[in-house]
Amino acid sequence: MDIAGAVALVAGGGGGFGAATARRLHAAGARVVVSDLDQAKGRAIVDELGVGAVFVRTDVTREDDVAAAVAAAEGLGPLRIAVVAHGGPGGPRILDKENAPAPQSSFARVIEVFLLATYNIDRLAAAAMARTDPLESGERGVIINTASIAAFDGTIGQTAYAAAKGGLVSMTLPLARDLGPLGIRALTLAPGTFLTPAYGDADPAQLDGYWGPAIPFPKRMGRPEEYAQLVQQIAENVYLNGETIRIDGGLRFTPKGAK
Ligand SMILES: NC(=O)c1ccc[n+]([C@@H]2O[C@H](COP(=O)([O-])OP(=O)(O)OC[C@H]3O[C@@H](n4cnc5c(N)ncnc54)[C@H](O)[C@@H]3O)[C@@H](O)[C@H]2O)c1
Repeated sequence: MDIAGAVALVAGGGGGFGAATARRLHAAGARVVVSDLDQAKGRAIVDELGVGAVFVRTDVTREDDVAAAVAAAEGLGPLRIAVVAHGGPGGPRILDKENAPAPQSSFARVIEVFLLATYNIDRLAAAAMARTDPLESGERGVIINTASIAAFDGTIGQTAYAAAKGGLVSMTLPLARDLGPLGIRALTLAPGTFLTPAYGDADPAQLDGYWGPAIPFPKRMGRPEEYAQLVQQIAENVYLNGETIRIDGGLRFTPKGAK
């Protein structure tokens, strides 16, 4: 797909992965809807990008919010790229130190934010893509969801997160199969550890030093720009479809993550 002239919706567009993706796609000529719960973060990216970037305040767990973000994208032109990269809660261990069970609601919330909300964005974005005229290749668009390597090697305390991200991995192929007749591709990214605001104010050099030894190469955390680069490569390469791609420097989580 030629990104120039396409419209992209980036859910979590104010975050680490989302902002890097919005910047990269915008630089490649896309018009971009930055959809995020956090007004300040979302607006900052849109102000930085200028013409061709629009912020829509969105709680991804609210169907009508997501519908409004998709409508805003359609208002800019043909929606061709949907990147789902919003954040959310982790989960506790299934039993705490006194062996009391985790609240069921904590599991449900993680599933709601990561799995249910992603499906909602996917279905509404796919419907908008289906309304576009196909490109010369027959392609209409591409959906890129964000899982995690925790989908495959979840660590202690990640039962809910791994279940949600595993759900995203499992739905990738059926999404591609459902949408293939319309020329819409579906892929999932499974990042390892990336230096984003999700890690708070921790010192980047310290974080790289902590994770580096566990990563075959390069011996540092990933950078959001590397995630965004892969998003662009996926968008441009029409033969990528129905697959989950790990982007992790070869990292495999141990039970505690790195050590
Ligand atoms: N950073 C990593 O190492 C890493 C690794 C694997 C997977 N991931 C996944 O990548 C995605 C993005 O992670 P990140 O590191 O960029 O996080 P981040 O915290 O930098 O950004 C997340 C963004 O999502 C927004 N957000 C949170 N809740 C929302 C909601 N209900 N509705 C709309 N927006 C909401 C936040 O305001 C923020 O701007 C997440 O799904 C995360 O699980 C991250």
